[in-house]
Amino acid sequence: MAEEFKVTPWEVTGDIDYDRLQQQFGTTPVDDALIARLAKYGDVHPMVRRGIFYSHRDMVPLLDQYDKGNRFVLYTGRGPSGNTHLGHMMPWIFNKWVQDTFGVEMLFQMTDDEKFLFKEKLDLEDTSSMAYENALDFIALGFDPKKTRIILNTKNIDKLYPIALRISKRVTFSTARAVFGFDDSTHIGQIFYTTLQSVPAFLPSVEAGRQVPVLIPCGIDQDPHFRVTRDVAPGMGFPKPSLFYCKMFPGLSGADKMSSSDENATIYTTDTPKAVKKKVGRAFTGGCVSVEEQRQKGGNPEVCAVFKYNYYLFESDDAKLNELAEKCRKGEILCGECKMCLTEKINVFLEEHQDKREKAKDVVGSMTYDGFEW
Ligand code: TRP
Repeated sequence: MAEEFKVTPWEVTGDIDYDRLQQQFGTTPVDDALIARLAKYGDVHPMVRRGIFYSHRDMVPLLDQYDKGNRFVLYTGRGPSGNTHLGHMMPWIFNKWVQDTFGVEMLFQMTDDEKFLFKEKLDLEDTSSMAYENALDFIALGFDPKKTRIILNTKNIDKLYPIALRISKRVTFSTARAVFGFDDSTHIGQIFYTTLQSVPAFLPSVEAGRQVPVLIPCGIDQDPHFRVTRDVAPGMGFPKPSLFYCKMFPGLSGADKMSSSDENATIYTTDTPKAVKKKVGRAFTGGCVSVEEQRQKGGNPEVCAVFKYNYYLFESDDAKLNELAEKCRKGEILCGECKMCLTEKINVFLEEHQDKREKAKDVVGSMTYDGFEW
């Protein structure tokens, strides 16, 4: 039997069984019908075709509304607790595709308050300055500066607080405890926080003075928050937000989730080519112990972190990806060569990204919510 796994907004451990998680959370699988429907709006993103964005809530009514001319607003976020790594970038890359494909506005929430409250060691100054650094990575992905606004919770609290208060009056401690697993030693800041993550789902309706649909593409670990959001929405006169959930981006060590607690298995957006080479060089693969054995028996791409990186982010061409898997299984390509190819792809991507990240410094000030100063 598979080892027990745990997925909460604050902790992801073990071997994640994504089907079981979907059942536990009560979300809906992305099926062929939904993929065919999405294909009407443009080329379906590889992350959808490949089952990385694999689960959802209410995508169909959202698209029905869109077809009737009722555009949704996109919402996603980041808790700034350290440097941005590829695992953070993956859902943002998808959000950018949605913005381009549907031509919609986007809200990006940076929860410096959350990370202050949930990370023992971080002070508010730390989390706010990391928010700025993380925002540069987000902007570098090419979000439309005219259609994208960045919320920083501690700066925008005057606009967020009235809505957060109205939400808080509708969420009992008993609900919060059941949804998030809080206990008697949980401090009260953590209990209140979830209201702030709900707010951007309602902001578009508050601003427009009518019911504006909202779509939140993000990691499935965030679902507990949005179950609460969806529960309180109708009573407050807001539409329930729709969700589009992805799996966690794997670590280079073979772990199910890339995490800053394992620095050597994590690729940061600011890494040098040398650092990338070293980290990929040490990655967990599906290879055999000796070259001879691997030539004979072949490798196993299913468990290989290097292959997963191609699958998740670095090889969007399905034919090339399948060819790589085949070659590996037949022992025609060895791990060293695969690692070199991936290193090259990541470094090409990062070189360009780091350039755009520098340029983002010129526009970040114009993309803040309500014009706060950065
Ligand atoms: N809680 C998220 C984190 O820890 C940050 C966040 C805020 C978020 N709002 C969001 C993530 C909306 C996804 C969608 O990183």
